[in-house]
Amino acid sequence: MEKNTLGEPRLSRSVLLWPTSEQCVIMIQVREAVYIADYAILEGVRANATDPNTQQYLSAPFCLLYKNSQNEIMPIAIQLSRQTPSGEANTVFLPSDDRYDWMLAKMWVKSSDFNVHQLVTHLLRTHLTSEVFAIAMYRQLAAVHPVYKLLIPHVRFTIAINTAAREKLICEDGIFDKANATGGTAIVEVIQKAMKTLTYKSLCFPEAMKA
Ligand SMILES: [Fe+2]
Repeated sequence: MEKNTLGEPRLSRSVLLWPTSEQCVIMIQVREAVYIADYAILEGVRANATDPNTQQYLSAPFCLLYKNSQNEIMPIAIQLSRQTPSGEANTVFLPSDDRYDWMLAKMWVKSSDFNVHQLVTHLLRTHLTSEVFAIAMYRQLAAVHPVYKLLIPHVRFTIAINTAAREKLICEDGIFDKANATGGTAIVEVIQKAMKTLTYKSLCFPEAMKA
């Protein structure tokens, strides 16, 4: 791969990023020091339209990142949409583009990352998943059971905080509906998609990255 004077990969606009999979995999190492962050899970998700006066938008971008000699992971190319047959919607944005074009492309990626992080990484993979174990524990294990004693410090407040989340954050007219592009029907859409690829291994960080 051609590099610039800072040792970073130099990409030409003709480089087309590619869709990887339907999986809910965010970061994949594609070669040494080069990673792809893929937000395919947002493809086709209907953006929040609960407030007719505030149209919201979603994209399903992918972003190439490079780990430089200072150990910083820097974006080096961004495509905001999936490949289409005509290729017209496949503009690849580069750091060498107009400053504000590149800034906006990065903002779209950050927005997508925020939505996936909050719904999948945070809500589903921490709060909702642990609630399943908490409920099973309360129903099936006596308080003197050793496994109960091992689990209780981890799930002591899970049901309480999840109840609050259902009442204030993800409910109809809640914070998600008011503030996030994944409010409204998108909450369920994204979580259902993420559940399809949820495995024990996908919860473990090293295995969650595809080498
Ligand atoms: Fe939380």
